[in-house]
Amino acid sequence: MVVGNWKMHGSSAALVELDGIAEAARHARVDVAVCLPATLLMAAAQRARDPIIGAQDCHAHASGSHTGDVSAAMIADAGARLTIIGHSERRRDHGETDAIVNAKLDTAIAHGLGVILCVGESEAQRREGDPAAFVCRQVAASLPAQARADRLMIAYEPLWAIGSGRSASGEQIATIHTDIRRAVQDRLGDQGADVPILYGGSVTGDNADAILGLETVDGVLVGGASLTAERLAPIIAAA
Ligand code: G3P
Repeated sequence: MVVGNWKMHGSSAALVELDGIAEAARHARVDVAVCLPATLLMAAAQRARDPIIGAQDCHAHASGSHTGDVSAAMIADAGARLTIIGHSERRRDHGETDAIVNAKLDTAIAHGLGVILCVGESEAQRREGDPAAFVCRQVAASLPAQARADRLMIAYEPLWAIGSGRSASGEQIATIHTDIRRAVQDRLGDQGADVPILYGGSVTGDNADAILGLETVDGVLVGGASLTAERLAPIIAAA
């Protein structure tokens, strides 16, 4: 699975990039999704079936007095098929706790969306403590016990690797992914064995091959390098 996250970038003119991304995906045996700002979802979903269109967040409630927010039902109605939940930039900018993330995830799945749950430790947490323990606590607290595994993916995104040009090493990724797998199975039982675990943080065409070659990695979540088809195509090819 290769998932792009455009974050707060893009315009309707930039949707032309999706054509090139779909073209690259056609030549690869890999699922490709692009998570777009809410304003672009409907136009993107109407454009073509590929790539899969995703959102970047949804509200924890199905509807109500929440000015400026977007619900899971609205995202599904716009034609998106999945959404990111709990990205570290939302946790940082909007004070999203594991409990909020847990409620959002529940709502998204109930409305038929696939979910990419993001977890990851900060630089200080890695330096001072046990990053795997922190990340596993995040997984346990963010996952509703009744979450449907067939709609779920987990993305391990260490905060210090996001947008820094410094991706985690293969050993760091493999260690934490193994612990995440255990935490998901502890929470969801046997069905947790099938939940794809992605890596995100400074993935580019140069390092995608090595990262995607790791046994524990089922895919990548890509920020900056997903903004153009030219930069995402080599990552899709590596997958
Ligand atoms: O969600 C993807 C992301 O946070 C990684 O961003 O720009 O380091 O690939 P980037």
